[in-house]
Amino acid sequence: MSVLRGHLLGLEPLSPTQILALLDLAEEAAAGRLDPRSLEGRVVANVFYEPSTRTRTSFELAARRLGARVVNFDPERSSVQKGESLIDTALTLEAMGTDAIVLRHPCSGAGQLVARHVRCSVVNAGDGMHEHPTQGLLDLLTVRQAFGRIAGLRVVVVGDVLHSRVARSAAWGFSKLGAEVVLCGPPTLVPRQLEQAGVRVCHRLEEALEGADVVMALRVQVERQAAGFLPSAGEYHRLYAVTPERLRLAKPGALFMHPGPMNLGVEVTPEVAYGARSLVLRQVANGVAVRMAVLYDLLAQQRAAAEVRPVERTELALAGRV
Ligand code: NCD
Repeated sequence: MSVLRGHLLGLEPLSPTQILALLDLAEEAAAGRLDPRSLEGRVVANVFYEPSTRTRTSFELAARRLGARVVNFDPERSSVQKGESLIDTALTLEAMGTDAIVLRHPCSGAGQLVARHVRCSVVNAGDGMHEHPTQGLLDLLTVRQAFGRIAGLRVVVVGDVLHSRVARSAAWGFSKLGAEVVLCGPPTLVPRQLEQAGVRVCHRLEEALEGADVVMALRVQVERQAAGFLPSAGEYHRLYAVTPERLRLAKPGALFMHPGPMNLGVEVTPEVAYGARSLVLRQVANGVAVRMAVLYDLLAQQRAAAEVRPVERTELALAGRV
């Protein structure tokens, strides 16, 4: 039976049990235990309205490793330039036999909108400032592998939380699985109201780092900055960059994470980014496994369920019950 019901739009709507089941499936994928032909005949469309290296490439690799065909739809070279709407684009791709639309879009809620209009699966690959659920899952998987658990850990997320879908998915995922989440950054980028979601907010990095097991730095989202959020990159670096000295304020075995792309010398120094405590490349590797798990769950397991239904109906009919 599948874990997800048709789509993956965020971690907020998922239960801890569903999240754990997806992490377990990702471990199966990482260990090479998913049938490489399980998505044979299936078509996955990557529909990216914003640039991406890791997410788009890993969705493509994940789909291909399970035997699916991949269409990389490029809005820059499509009828989007002639004014075609997002919904029309999605319906067009579906009419051509697409089974899953992997969507990255600058507007929060774009995935939900498309999911209301198509019958195929929609996977949110980052919608504006809302969620990036597969990033959240790969962050959870990486931490679970490194520490053997998630519950009871203290995870500090530092940076431009306000504009970050990565931070939002991480906050939902880690807190649902019993970790303590501390959000840190300047008051303009980490508003106090976020505490209503059950996380701690702290504006001084040195204070936030006390007792931290995981320190996750976020990219300063230049493309989503209205003027006035940040004094300057230099000032930001002075107050909030993760440096070797600051990392020493966390717990002795604390590990560093970043969703990428990194602005080296702004939110993190190269020594930390590529140092022995960095999980950055493990996160990237886990991205493929997590996306295999999500596509497998949506397309292989659900097909199995859908195929059972008519048979059951026939059996019931033969038994004279319907
Ligand atoms: C993030 C994104 O685009 O949301 N990157 C990613 O998917 N790995 C984070 C970012 O752009 O800063």
